[in-house]
Amino acid sequence: VRPRVFVTRDMPQPAIDRLKEFAYVDLWPAFPAPEKHELLYHVSQADALLCMLSDPIDEEVMAAGKKLRVIANYAVGYDNIDVAAATRRNIAVTNTPDVLTETTADMAFTLLMAAARNLIAADRFTRDGFWIAWHPLVLLGHDVSGATLGIVGLGRIGQAVARRARGFGMRILYTSRHRNPAAEAELGVEYCSLEELLQQSDYVSLHTPLMPETHHLIGAKELQLMKPTAILINTSRGNVVDQEALTAALQDGTIGGAGLDVFKEEPISPDDPLLELSNVVVAPHIGSATIETRTKMGMMAAENIKAVLEGRRPPNLVNKDLYSSPSK
Ligand code: GLV
Ligand code: GLV
Repeated sequence: VRPRVFVTRDMPQPAIDRLKEFAYVDLWPAFPAPEKHELLYHVSQADALLCMLSDPIDEEVMAAGKKLRVIANYAVGYDNIDVAAATRRNIAVTNTPDVLTETTADMAFTLLMAAARNLIAADRFTRDGFWIAWHPLVLLGHDVSGATLGIVGLGRIGQAVARRARGFGMRILYTSRHRNPAAEAELGVEYCSLEELLQQSDYVSLHTPLMPETHHLIGAKELQLMKPTAILINTSRGNVVDQEALTAALQDGTIGGAGLDVFKEEPISPDDPLLELSNVVVAPHIGSATIETRTKMGMMAAENIKAVLEGRRPPNLVNKDLYSSPSK
């Protein structure tokens, strides 16, 4: 019998077609996510699970997956998965690094530019008929060129953002768990503490994974350190920021603005006070959302699944100790 793959959301067709070459594809048909009981039922039949960053994959889901051998996350981040539990159960966890690096960096820059130049307000202003005369004082933003950008987390995406910032003639500061002299030489980025970065930057862009150490990395105290004109960009995970503290800081002018693709709870409620603020640009977690990248992510997840089902080490294994012994 063919192995069975449960895919929790429709995705670009080439990825589905690739999966169908070696597996029976159980594709979740609806637009909203499967609820927990539905997830448990479908996983109970599956040899492989292809899931989204918004699907919490905990021990209960894994326990239901009696035949489950691989959890292929359709994302680079995998904070939605209990990786330790997967390792205990001998289930491979894979992600989709690299293919979305440039696309996500593009999104960080899109939010940065949109927030710096009031693009959303300008669009509304134009459509709504407020443009009655050209005026030197209408919709003034702040320069991006020549400004200082602080990058928090200089991984693949952080470095890709730095490359873009170089083209804008920005001074680039970074803070990271490990200092990266090679990147400093190649990208002209300067290492500093988080505190110094927050104090000196006109734009701060977050590129850390969500882990216990980065949960609420940016809270009230950190926001206080930022310039009153500074703009915070978040394309990583909502909980890297204390969203209540951020909302307060944006309301009282502690910082100048924000560009956010990620939130504490997703989807964010349309009644959230954050959405009442005009100095915030928001997007519904679409950092990797291009046809090209979403196709590559699907192909990558399919290859990871195929490898595990054939008894090979998958190319993008997260729980690396799983294959440490040659017998596996
Ligand atoms: C998106 O947020 C991802 O982790 O790929
Ligand atoms: C994610 O891919 C990162 O390393 O920044």
